[in-house]
Amino acid sequence: MRKNLFDDILKLKKEKNAIILAHLYQPAEIQAIADYIGDSYYLSKIARDCEEELIIFCGVKFMGESAKILSPEKTVILPSASAGCPMADMATASDLEEMIKEYPDAFKVCYINSSYEVKALCDVSVTSSSALAILKNVPNKQILFLPDRNLGSYIAEFFPDKEFIFWQGFCPTHERITTEDVLKAKEKHPTVKVLTHPECNKEVRDLSDYIGSTSGIIDYATKCEDDEFIICTEEGILYELEKRNPNKKFYFPEKILCPNMKKTSLENVYDALCGKIDEVILDDEISKKALTSLENMHKLGEMVLCEK
Ligand code: 13P
Ligand code: SF4
Repeated sequence: MRKNLFDDILKLKKEKNAIILAHLYQPAEIQAIADYIGDSYYLSKIARDCEEELIIFCGVKFMGESAKILSPEKTVILPSASAGCPMADMATASDLEEMIKEYPDAFKVCYINSSYEVKALCDVSVTSSSALAILKNVPNKQILFLPDRNLGSYIAEFFPDKEFIFWQGFCPTHERITTEDVLKAKEKHPTVKVLTHPECNKEVRDLSDYIGSTSGIIDYATKCEDDEFIICTEEGILYELEKRNPNKKFYFPEKILCPNMKKTSLENVYDALCGKIDEVILDDEISKKALTSLENMHKLGEMVLCEK
């Protein structure tokens, strides 16, 4: 790494009047240099409301797309242009069109981890921290939920009167955490609470004391008086967990890393600020349709903490 890269980025950021946003799964040095760190819901709101005209979004493709759709007049750059989300890629707009023909009356709900072409076909987008609140405000009985079958089935548990149709997508990173891993961690630390992201499968969720988004997990661990926790999600979350709780201990049953989230580097953040990386460019027509689904997310969503 070039010496003083950190300082050069800060200097250039000021000169360009840019803002750096980082998801909680980003590498520690990226979170350290960011102006705002958070979950998908929080970052989407910052991107929409910030005054800066240049947004360096340290995350994956669907996050950059959502920021651009919410602020079409701003320049949005994803420092690692090749950082996608395999779960988002599991749902294509053409497959969804076919499914909509099968369920014409269903209310179409997509996880924000989806392409903007998919969002354009949906009634509302949700995040893991906003999905429960949003679904409470949806009167329709039949819900088509995509692409994450795990977040979908978790949310459905709260709405026994609704009929959910699930897409069979999943996060390959979170699916790597198994019940065996969690049981082993519990055996080693029998009195310690398990905090889990809803992208984990049901068997893992059922072994958990708390289920929530990345920021939900951090808030829970910070407010709770316990001083040790078992954490079932991507390891990048440790940076903020330790920053807020220097005296607490966090155990990961399985060290899971999202390879796409780890593609951001200080070098490519610097290059993004220098204008060496292409900005996010989207189709206008599709963006306008996707905007409705993202605006509905902000309208209907409120931060909720859901304890099991
Ligand atoms: P949240 O930060 O919204 O919990 O999402 C997790 C995730 O997988 C983002 O890709
Ligand atoms: Fe996609 Fe999973 Fe990575 Fe999130 S952690 S970006 S859902 S692959």
